[in-house]
Amino acid sequence: MRLFKSQILTLLTAINFLTSTTNAIDLDITSKTSICNAASLIAGGILDYYEGTTYGGTVGMFSQPYYWWESGGAFGGLIDFQFFCDNDTYDEIIYNALMAQKGSGNNYIPANQSTTEGNDDQGFWGLTVMEATERNFTNPPSGEPGWLALSQAVFNTMWARWETDSCGGGLRWQIFTWNSGYSYKNTISTACLFAMATRLARYTGNETYIDVAETAFQWLTDIDFIGLSGDTYRVYDGAQIGTNCTEITQIQWSYNFALLMSGSAYAYNFTEDTVWLTRVNDLLNGASIFFENDIMYEQACQGTTKGCNTDQRSFKAYLSRSLGQTMKLVPSTQSTIQTYLETSAQAAADTCNGGRDGHTCGQNWLLKTYDNMYGLGEQMSALEVILSLLTEQSPAPYTNNTGGSSTGDASAGLSSIRGSSSLTGTDVTVTGKDKAGSGVITAIVLAVLTGGAVWMIV
Ligand SMILES: *[C@@H]1O[C@H](CO)[C@@H](O)[C@H](O)[C@H]1NC(C)=O
Ligand SMILES: *[C@@H]1O[C@H](CO)[C@@H](O)[C@H](O)[C@H]1NC(C)=O
Ligand SMILES: *[C@@H]1O[C@H](CO)[C@@H](O)[C@H](O)[C@H]1NC(C)=O
Ligand SMILES: *[C@@H]1O[C@H](CO)[C@@H](O)[C@H](O)[C@H]1NC(C)=O
Ligand SMILES: *[C@@H]1O[C@H](CO)[C@@H](O)[C@H](O)[C@H]1NC(C)=O
Ligand SMILES: *[C@@H]1O[C@H](CO)[C@@H](O)[C@H](O)[C@H]1NC(C)=O
Ligand SMILES: *[C@@H]1O[C@H](CO)[C@@H](O)[C@H](O)[C@H]1NC(C)=O
Repeated sequence: MRLFKSQILTLLTAINFLTSTTNAIDLDITSKTSICNAASLIAGGILDYYEGTTYGGTVGMFSQPYYWWESGGAFGGLIDFQFFCDNDTYDEIIYNALMAQKGSGNNYIPANQSTTEGNDDQGFWGLTVMEATERNFTNPPSGEPGWLALSQAVFNTMWARWETDSCGGGLRWQIFTWNSGYSYKNTISTACLFAMATRLARYTGNETYIDVAETAFQWLTDIDFIGLSGDTYRVYDGAQIGTNCTEITQIQWSYNFALLMSGSAYAYNFTEDTVWLTRVNDLLNGASIFFENDIMYEQACQGTTKGCNTDQRSFKAYLSRSLGQTMKLVPSTQSTIQTYLETSAQAAADTCNGGRDGHTCGQNWLLKTYDNMYGLGEQMSALEVILSLLTEQSPAPYTNNTGGSSTGDASAGLSSIRGSSSLTGTDVTVTGKDKAGSGVITAIVLAVLTGGAVWMIV
């Protein structure tokens, strides 16, 4: 039989139509099976960027241009996937990644990330290992520090870098003096410390962590990185210490709201102090800037001519996860948040009809169809917003008394701070001779940074 060109074209179109409709994500937000089917397809898309299972790839890292911190964020989403959907497909990959990247000091400061790792980067891995703690993820063998101890090490090393010499407190963006951004204090670094503190308090029942959380939150308010207007918070990016943090970069990112809001929710759930409830509500009000017709979007970059950079494209993932945590821990927020999550999840799923596999997710959920913007951040965001629909029917994050089984160590990481061989910002003292050396390192770092994608914003 001979086919004419037009017949072939019709056939091809039909085949394409059939395959793409069977592959596209069809989400019923009321069905756990449907949610988990969607999540499993999207999680598969995340793993397409993973290099840890390919020959010569690094365990725990995603391919270029994804930085180390974003890998940390991605594994947090995969931990939630295995927990919410009872699907252990990726357990070994997650476990190996968390173990491979903890570094020789067991504190998520691996020496080979020292040209890029900032406080926020360490913080994102810290939040992921905290997720492992609260989700009772497969524990490391005895003899190795548990997820809780690793979380405590992240907290302890970050808190040791709290610095009052400039701006009256806060964390610098960078850990290492040689990295550009060392002279910038920012909300996200401080918010990571804050969120670690509130979660450790709730998990362990140790009040000391709440004192640190209060100090961090208070500082952010005093310095006006968090600004109250009526009962709505604005959350800004940060400021240079050269101005003693008086000239604030007023851009508002969803991940800052995410960590401050869910951290406040953990703090309220643990302390039942209404100060924290007010903060949760005011942050939730402020976060309305990230929604249009209840659909989530990254208002500072999405749809602008400049667009969102690689990092920013993953921010909706953290806002989604944090909204789920918040409504679980502060039930009075549930109706507002549920509307946001359901509308956003449906819109996100509608964008997951692109790419060669037919279910690659797009960036702009407002469009409700694939926009040709694809990547790790798009997959992570869609995964987390869809998974968050299972929050209500799933257990709350465990604590040491309600199902968690992780081994802790309240002083984890502290010896590495005192040890002279460690690479923490606090003990890097630049002497006259080292200065030339650090200049060279800075030059190399800058060359690397400008050669690749530019790190975060500023
Ligand atoms: C678990 O997830 C994997 C990968 O996403 C998927 O292939 C598998 O079908 C899922 N298992 C179940 C029982 O849904
Ligand atoms: C960085 O060091 C870790 C161990 O701390 C190792 O697992 C990883 O492979 C190294 N990464 C690279 C890119 O060499
Ligand atoms: C810098 O800011 C902090 C916090 O607002 C303030 O306590 C301190 O006095 C300021 N320092 C200078 C030199 O202005
Ligand atoms: C967790 O609870 C167990 C048993 O109740 C207790 O032995 C252990 O010390 C607790 N761990 C922490 C970190 O509080
Ligand atoms: C509570 O946490 C603080 C801060 O990390 C620590 O110094 C203290 O030992 C902890 N207390 C207990 C009982 O674990
Ligand atoms: C804390 O979270 C649990 C689990 O969702 C919830 O049942 C409880 O009401 C919360 N506590 C407060 C004070 O909101
Ligand atoms: C947590 O994990 C431990 C060790 O595997 C297990 O004994 C315990 O039952 C788990 N807790 C829950 C709530 O599943």
